[in-house]
Amino acid sequence: MAAMTHRTHHLCAALLAGLLAAGAATAADTSATQQLERWSAQAGAPGNADRGQRLFTTRQGGEWSCSSCHHSPPTTGGKHASTGKPIAPLAPAFNREAFTDTAKVDKWFRRNCKDVLSRECSAAEKADVMAYLLSLKP
Ligand code: HEC
Repeated sequence: MAAMTHRTHHLCAALLAGLLAAGAATAADTSATQQLERWSAQAGAPGNADRGQRLFTTRQGGEWSCSSCHHSPPTTGGKHASTGKPIAPLAPAFNREAFTDTAKVDKWFRRNCKDVLSRECSAAEKADVMAYLLSLKP
């Protein structure tokens, strides 16, 4: 059993390395593709765009869903649901700045998941959201 898990992990890493190489290089310290790789590796499974879309657009028992502030689909500028402050598009194909700073990614995932789910998102949930956001193309 342990050997199998090990092998699956390697396969997965190889797949993700390919994804990573395909992603455009940016000057900043990370990219959306690298974040997908990061969360998928932590979750031990690749992100699922359909599950990510469901999580993103559905209220999770609270007042807001992710799309309350980021729009659905998040390919246009959003607006903060309570302050009205403009938010740049979250989908990386529509915003070169999105997911280029690891500290920012971590800070907002933590804060926004707490606002929407009243807890932090799991690595698998973050991988799903990243897969969804990366699936959005102009
Ligand atoms: C109450 C409003 C609000 C809600 C609801 C919300 N967000 Fe955000 N989110 C923001 C704001 C504001 C920012 C910062 C935008 C900026 O400065 O570019 C942000 C930024 C982010 C970032 C950082 C993007 C980057 O470029 O690094 C991620 C990731 C994110 N949100 C994910 C989510 C997810 C996932 C949900 C649902 C679980 C969600 N957000 C719900 C307001 C919200």
